[in-house]
Amino acid sequence: MIDIHCHILPGVDDGSTEVDASISMAKKAVESGITHVYATPHHLNEKYVNVKRDIIARVVKLSESFQQADIPLTIHLGQEVRIHRDLLTSLEKEEILTLDDKGRHMLLELPSGRVPTYTQDMIYELLLQGITPIIVHPERNKELLENPKRLFELVQEGALTQITSGSMIGNFGKRIQSFSKKIIDHNLAHFLATDAHNIGSRGFTLHEAYDTITKMYGIERTFYFKENAELLMKGQSPAIEKPAPFKKKILGIF
Ligand SMILES: [Fe+2]
Repeated sequence: MIDIHCHILPGVDDGSTEVDASISMAKKAVESGITHVYATPHHLNEKYVNVKRDIIARVVKLSESFQQADIPLTIHLGQEVRIHRDLLTSLEKEEILTLDDKGRHMLLELPSGRVPTYTQDMIYELLLQGITPIIVHPERNKELLENPKRLFELVQEGALTQITSGSMIGNFGKRIQSFSKKIIDHNLAHFLATDAHNIGSRGFTLHEAYDTITKMYGIERTFYFKENAELLMKGQSPAIEKPAPFKKKILGIF
């Protein structure tokens, strides 16, 4: 399995604290059936700054540690970029790292409480530069939870989305779990990833989440998500299903 979002790089954000912790995380990932992870440290989320050149150097180093420890896990380049007004300038300054540094996809994080008014414009501008933003864990965004039509609009604009495996299996509560299902029901989810931070409560739960999806939707839906991660890794475009709009509430019922 391929995990396109996790915090396995040591000492750069609220994920792995040190190399040993990264090795423990890697072992857990491999045990759960993961063969490739994208190391996606936070960037500009009001607390952490991790620019492209630093991430590349750290990924090379961690990759060597995994080889020395004989861990069959390939690390890929990535970054979890918090949306900000100067994002395009950061891109010009080579601070932004797209997945595998291919200039095609990037993980884009919204603030947890809201969707900035310029989000749609930013998606448009990124697309113009050939970069498709993948909005990470939309199911955990308060504004989207209250107004899912906003998410439909962002996907219509051309953004892709990634649901977090822990949300799918209920680790963030029932409300976020049922919103995750609703996002999938409306064909607004394109990837599933762990967003793992440790080997504890925010670990590598991709396998469990795929099991849940298979039980709920059938194996085809699991294949859809897995195939999209593979296409992404090969530098190809993921499959995009036609998004289904949210219907108006009738007598307070969806
Ligand atoms: Fe993350």
